[in-house]
Amino acid sequence: LDNGLALKPTMGWLHWERFMCNTDCDTQPDNCISERLYMQMADVMVKEGWKDAGYEYVCIDDCWPSRQRDAQGRLQADPKRFPGGIKKLADYVHSKGLKLGIYADVGKNTCAGYPGSLGHYETDAQTFADWGVDLLKFDGCFMDWKLLGDGYTNMSKALNKTGRSILYSCEWPLYEWPFQKPNYTAIRETCNHWRNFDDVFDSWSSIKSILDWTASHQDTIVPSAGPGGWNDPDMLVIGNFGLSHAQQESQMALWAIMAAPLLMSNDLRDICPRSKKLLQNKLIIDISQDPLGKQGHLSAKLDSFEVWERPLSKRRLAVAVLNKQEIGGPRIFSIRFVPGWKICDPQCNVTQILPQYKEMGVQTLQSKVLLYIDPSGTALLTVTPLSSPLKNPHKLYW
Ligand code: GLA
Ligand code: GLA
Repeated sequence: LDNGLALKPTMGWLHWERFMCNTDCDTQPDNCISERLYMQMADVMVKEGWKDAGYEYVCIDDCWPSRQRDAQGRLQADPKRFPGGIKKLADYVHSKGLKLGIYADVGKNTCAGYPGSLGHYETDAQTFADWGVDLLKFDGCFMDWKLLGDGYTNMSKALNKTGRSILYSCEWPLYEWPFQKPNYTAIRETCNHWRNFDDVFDSWSSIKSILDWTASHQDTIVPSAGPGGWNDPDMLVIGNFGLSHAQQESQMALWAIMAAPLLMSNDLRDICPRSKKLLQNKLIIDISQDPLGKQGHLSAKLDSFEVWERPLSKRRLAVAVLNKQEIGGPRIFSIRFVPGWKICDPQCNVTQILPQYKEMGVQTLQSKVLLYIDPSGTALLTVTPLSSPLKNPHKLYW
């Protein structure tokens, strides 16, 4: 969507996977969907280096509103859980130099059964703009699939009409795929990013299913990604309960390769230092945010390995080698088998970012470098082509 936003994949935090629809603030005041949760997350994001690392949007998901619209037909936040209202929460988040995201649904109800926006697009867009909201995640539950296109397009127009810059996150293709192949040209013109596949869970099988879906549909979806519009494979679940550290590294590496929005769903108030360091790894974030803005793809399957490559600016290449074998110990992968390795003719410079930072130095087509990759782990590299090695500089002149 050409609205000047999401020129690079969106970075921030979104409550859904970790906090779901917990509305019980009496027994769980720290973990329920309430203004407190977002204020505390915003505080931590500033104090603990998240904002400096690039994470900017603090996003509300489902279960924030009251069950009833107000007398003017506007959505309103649940008064018990959001006593200050969304406007005050937005002011607070803005005072920290961050942005606020909110959630609504194109149909009659949200997925959790709260009021949907069908029949209220202009009112809701204006309400969000009046509150100072910066991002809208627009879900697709309780909607006739034939009306999805009109619904998502009309909300896009309604947001534009408010005059406020509101990043527009859609789930249009996810809800359309069961019935027909989505029109990604139209989706890209309408949305800043779009969910294609199932919700992420805090498990390796969920991450694998997302990667498998993405790889098997890459010819359709990869070309549609670029500055202003991105495929959204759903939230980062790093720092929660279900992934080993190697699996967390795999998610981080592959989300960067896929040019995916980096929306964490975890508890930043209580996250282990290793996960924090991974999520704040500048070199991985640089791959994610690379100015060329091209999404990577699966380029080879060899033995138990998957090779993913993403073209970067300045003719560089990011390479992720995922070891899908889930038995045994680390396995060895010979770097020469990366299809994009041809940019190492005559020479290239290689940096390993995961599993640990290592300058691998100047390499050639015949490189003997071996990667050691843990089960369900990933080696992440950048490869920079070097021009003619000038072995015989005199020859150039005669
Ligand atoms: C759908 C979406 C999720 C989340 C829930 C909320 O399942 O895909 O990301 O927003 O609804 O109910
Ligand atoms: C079988 C057994 C395993 C292991 C292998 C070794 O698969 O079930 O526990 O001993 O043989 O080949």
